[in-house]
Amino acid sequence: AVDVRKLRATTGYITYDEGFGNTGSCQSEITYIDGEVGILRYRGYPIEQLAAKSNFIDVSYLVIYGELPTPTQRKEFSQRLTKEAPIREGLVRFIQGFPRDAHPMAVLSSSLNAMGAYYPHIASNNHKRDLEHFDEAAAIALSKVRTIAAHSYRVARGLPLNYPKPTLGYSENFLHLMFSEPYNEYVPTPEVAAAINLFLLLHAEHEQNCSTSTVRMVASAGANLFASASAGVSALWGPLHGGANQAVLEMLAAIHADGDDGSKFIENAKNGKARLMGFGHRVYKNYDPRAKIIKGSFDKALDSLGITNDPFLDIARNLEAAALSDDYFISRKLYPNVDFYSGLIMNALKIPVDMFTVMFAIGRMPGWIAQWHEVAKNPKSKINRPRQIYVGPTPRDVPDAV
Ligand code: ACO
Repeated sequence: AVDVRKLRATTGYITYDEGFGNTGSCQSEITYIDGEVGILRYRGYPIEQLAAKSNFIDVSYLVIYGELPTPTQRKEFSQRLTKEAPIREGLVRFIQGFPRDAHPMAVLSSSLNAMGAYYPHIASNNHKRDLEHFDEAAAIALSKVRTIAAHSYRVARGLPLNYPKPTLGYSENFLHLMFSEPYNEYVPTPEVAAAINLFLLLHAEHEQNCSTSTVRMVASAGANLFASASAGVSALWGPLHGGANQAVLEMLAAIHADGDDGSKFIENAKNGKARLMGFGHRVYKNYDPRAKIIKGSFDKALDSLGITNDPFLDIARNLEAAALSDDYFISRKLYPNVDFYSGLIMNALKIPVDMFTVMFAIGRMPGWIAQWHEVAKNPKSKINRPRQIYVGPTPRDVPDAV
């Protein structure tokens, strides 16, 4: 490998790679992706096998600790998650203080950062000290992210809050926190719980995407896990990243309202007047393996929910068919990504559109925790500090006062 620091010192050259399309920013043992052939592996295990044989909690353990859990480790991990599910009353009041129309990603990002105030012993901004309590910090982040998300949803709608139930699994508890009403507990069908579980598992980690690179960037300065994860949420909120699943539904709604069956929109996308949300990926240039898996379970989930006829689905299928047979999309290797189908599934599951990206954030938490840990535990970690190519004015004098 070229020692770019030496190169800069001796030649003055700076590597310019707009959007970091070909810049390796770190070494990591967590996730392997080969975008040309559509491979995704967490800690060496193919995503297809994990999706078929595992679940979100075991995969979270795998991503964070490097191995699938033994029965004892699984039990201890689940117990820690159960213990950490409720959030402090002060934080509940903090969430209740946001305006009703606050976007839940704003609430989530702020609340995660605020956790540093509630757990100073694991948010000391001294990696060595913070790592002494890493198991606790990881469980707090993974378990409470779901509680904060559900509380923000209920507060925004003026609904009474639900409290986590120690008897429920991770996905079931999330659905209970979101949808149970007084005297009417929400019990999801096994298919619905399985769809949420699959969604979270497929989003658990994805190497140096925008939000994860942000987490590592913030961690590289020595910041604690909560501050770093909060920054990750902010990055994820963007419509070109995690916000794409919300943007997919908004796009479908706009196409529907326009009386279009999708063909006019496809033309606009080709003319640069619109962007086909849920299509394209910086790394996957043949297909997104997560999209393939989620599409496979898509019809099953819709069947179990009794959804056969939905105008958004028809438009989505038209867009998919048109794009997959059109030269514009084929030549640019623009295929449906995971967000295209996940937006549709969540819509079918009655998850409100503004919660889509929050769901992504819950799923991605194990990845952020693991990536923060990789930075924090490495004594040779350096602060991330890219350079730039200056294109501003050449030297000039400040004019005399007139
Ligand atoms: N619709 C129409 N045209 C597109 C799309 C799209 N969704 N995506 C890329 N293109 C076109 C560009 O206009 C460009 O065309 P040109 O060569 O004629 O100028 C070409 O394809 C290459 O596009 P880039 O923007 O350079 O590709 P990049 O790798 O930078 O962007 C991205 C990838 C951001 C995902 C992009 O494809 C996009 O905006 N997609 C829609 C948003 C989306 O679905 N994001 C989710 C990403 S996956 C995730 O976060 C889980």
